[in-house]
Amino acid sequence: MKFDVLTLFPEMFEPIKQSIVGRAIDNNLLEINITNIRDFSTDKHLKVDDTPYGGGAGMLMKPDVVYDAYNNVMQKISQTGSTKIKSLYVTPQGKKLTQSMVKEFSQYDNIIILCGHYEGIDQRAIDIIQPEEVSIGDYVLTGGEIPAMVLIDSISRYVPGVIKDESTAEESFSSSLLEYPQYTRPEIFMNIRVPEVLLSGHHKNINKWRREQSLINTYNKRPELLNEANLTEEDKKFIEELSNKK
Ligand code: 6GU
Repeated sequence: MKFDVLTLFPEMFEPIKQSIVGRAIDNNLLEINITNIRDFSTDKHLKVDDTPYGGGAGMLMKPDVVYDAYNNVMQKISQTGSTKIKSLYVTPQGKKLTQSMVKEFSQYDNIIILCGHYEGIDQRAIDIIQPEEVSIGDYVLTGGEIPAMVLIDSISRYVPGVIKDESTAEESFSSSLLEYPQYTRPEIFMNIRVPEVLLSGHHKNINKWRREQSLINTYNKRPELLNEANLTEEDKKFIEELSNKK
């Protein structure tokens, strides 16, 4: 998987090169190429933004600079022979990111992420590039750099070898459910014991307990998620019992 990010703030992407994603880059499973949009300014002052026609607050990124930066990246990718290329624009106007969108994006070989800043990008550049618009939630950030890192991190988890295969496989079984609680040593901490079943070595019982804990957590904290979850008849019965107890 190769990510290309177009941004005015390349330094903001240092944090994503750490930890699990960083190790995957070292192992050649991932590539993250950052392009500074400012490099494509032809202006002698390297101007990349200007005031909006019609007036209003803030500055807009100029369409020619953004388009030239995008074209440069797209040409480089095309030269590799790749055809599975996805272009994304991170904006609060986009479709709200979900795990199923993340999974779909992970099927591409190249992902280009365009980051807006200031008040956004001149609409003509967006109309020509026609990227898929993605938001990470209903709140406003100062720029698309953090959303771009959210995309890179979440998509990378589906690239084979980046995390243990079981981690994403287990998710499909427990998709739309919250996690069960987990415990490590010591067995007793501040007088609280680790749940007995987890020490039993009885894997069938452990799996049943964990499933029930996931259902309890979801029921209490995010009940709306239960509507989309893959529930067995046994799960439904268990939830029915939970709702009777209330
Ligand atoms: Cl993708 N961009 C900005 N600027 N703010 C956001 C967002 C994106 N998603 C949520 N808020």
